[in-house]
Amino acid sequence: MSLFNASRLLGKTVLITGASSGIGAATAVLFAKAGSNVLLLARREDALKEVQQACIAAHKESGLKEGGNFAPIQLDVSDRAAIAGLWSKVPSNLRKVDILVNNAGYVIGREHVGDIDESVVDGMFATNVLGLIAMTQLFVKEFKAQKSGHIINIGSIAGFEAYVGGSIYCATKFAVNAFTTSMRKELVDTPIRVTEIQPAMVETEFSLVRFKGDVNAAKSVYAGLQPLTGQDIAEEIVWAASRPPHVNIASEVIFPTNQAGATIAYRTPQ
Ligand SMILES: NC(=O)c1ccc[n+]([C@@H]2O[C@H](COP(=O)([O-])OP(=O)(O)OC[C@H]3O[C@@H](n4cnc5c(N)ncnc54)[C@H](OP(=O)(O)O)[C@@H]3O)[C@@H](O)[C@H]2O)c1
Repeated sequence: MSLFNASRLLGKTVLITGASSGIGAATAVLFAKAGSNVLLLARREDALKEVQQACIAAHKESGLKEGGNFAPIQLDVSDRAAIAGLWSKVPSNLRKVDILVNNAGYVIGREHVGDIDESVVDGMFATNVLGLIAMTQLFVKEFKAQKSGHIINIGSIAGFEAYVGGSIYCATKFAVNAFTTSMRKELVDTPIRVTEIQPAMVETEFSLVRFKGDVNAAKSVYAGLQPLTGQDIAEEIVWAASRPPHVNIASEVIFPTNQAGATIAYRTPQ
């Protein structure tokens, strides 16, 4: 925790979408360790409850008095009506949110244009783009009213480097980049901060989801190099959130040391 000025995060309330695994889960635990409260949002309730327990343990271990409130919220960000009804699911003591981490997102398949199932296209846009926009619209209103707030959007290197077999996912992450950049410019006359985190290869459930549960195909993505972990990205997110109020980390691109582009990586022969 020495990297962070944890005092700036004490007693803050953070809402993280996609908190049931990977980057979102690791980020929740790290905020818990820093003395923040966390609203954990995703579709899988059991997984959220496990992350809630991990947050409770991390907070206890920190010995901090501040924070320590962790609430799972089962919600599908591709469901606009569910987002509109979000406040009914938030415990009354956690209604003032300070930091929104828009992290929920996924990719399915590597099919080329012409062969991509329309339901896959719709699902990725509904979650990665429309869900992120709906969550942001809801919170920008709150943040303007309370004259504070930090929106941290999880983009990807796929948001500036399109690659073969990633047309739809890349299109969604380019959209996240454009939306986030416009919003940062629109909010320049406010105290609201806007950050985009753009990771490269992170070993989470991401590839398992991409390859529809095929463990060997998912593992092959990381063969011969050391990928990033959810913890690595969580450290960047919590670090950005812990900067002083006049400092806005606009964007961060994070690669594993042996990766330098969407399709450029050095792998030791297996
Ligand atoms: N892993 C990588 O290499 C990588 C690289 C760059 C960027 N990213 C981005 O990082 C973010 C997190 O991914 P990850 O690597 O941590 O993958 P992950 O382990 O698969 O986590 C994805 C999270 O998003 C949630 N989610 C998916 N669809 C949702 C929906 N409709 N509503 C609510 N929650 C939803 C999942 O929870 P439920 O299934 O429980 O809903 C899960 O908690 C994504 O935006 C991804 O695009 C990942």
